[in-house]
Amino acid sequence: DKVRGDVLFDNVTFKYEDNVVLQDIDIDAPAGKKVAIMGATGAGKTSIVNLICRFYDPQKGRVLVDNVDVRDWDLKTLRRSVSVVMQETFLFSDTIANNIAYGKDDASMDEIIAAAKAACAHDFIMEMPEGYDTVVGERGVGLSGGQKQRIAIARALLVSAPILILDDATSSVDMETEHKIQQALKRLMAGRTTFIIAHRISAVKDADEIIILENGRIVERGTHDQLLKLRGVYYDIFRD
Ligand code: CTP
Ligand code: MG
Repeated sequence: DKVRGDVLFDNVTFKYEDNVVLQDIDIDAPAGKKVAIMGATGAGKTSIVNLICRFYDPQKGRVLVDNVDVRDWDLKTLRRSVSVVMQETFLFSDTIANNIAYGKDDASMDEIIAAAKAACAHDFIMEMPEGYDTVVGERGVGLSGGQKQRIAIARALLVSAPILILDDATSSVDMETEHKIQQALKRLMAGRTTFIIAHRISAVKDADEIIILENGRIVERGTHDQLLKLRGVYYDIFRD
């Protein structure tokens, strides 16, 4: 069956061992909605992602996709339905081309190059000794944080999952590159339920809902305009 991509957090509380990191979280993200999450380091942003992907399960409450508890999804279907650009990009000890095509084995070289271009990765890849055949990862050529992120974004551009998660996806690239990638990300987000974790207002201000997390609790939520009027935490970030 096709996954629509409705995501719902129903009164979720989550802890790592004894450390409570999310408390009474409610998020309603019907298919296609854009939810942005902001908050200081350690606030619990990545933990929210971890629960959607089922890297962990909450102790209280439920995470639902298309009205079904994610625990009841078969993991293969769930993973295929969620495309994640993780905060820490994981690269395989393999060629750049294969790293980009991870998640879409049947991608053609033309598709891989188009994705890399949209992610502003094509130019630095072409400067590598073997171009797209250069082996990276643990046993290969080392890449900078920003280069790894662009490979991860190219990877996400190739797959067409209904749920998309961008966890600090452009935090290590410079502003100019980020601006260019934003165009590709906007296209990627179109029609998908998207969770955007970011620190810059420019990356979140168009979201349908912006959520501010503090110590695992939602302290503010609303659109950019609503949150500015509130003159709270979001407003302070905006003014900085
Ligand atoms: N934590 C933990 N065990 C883990 C991962 C995280 O105890 N395996 C804790 C962290 O120390 C933090 C809290 O859980 O206190 C929330 O972590 P996280 O969701 O990763 O916070 P983020 O908001 O994603 O922080 P950052 O901006 O640094 O990515
Ligand atoms: Mg995080």
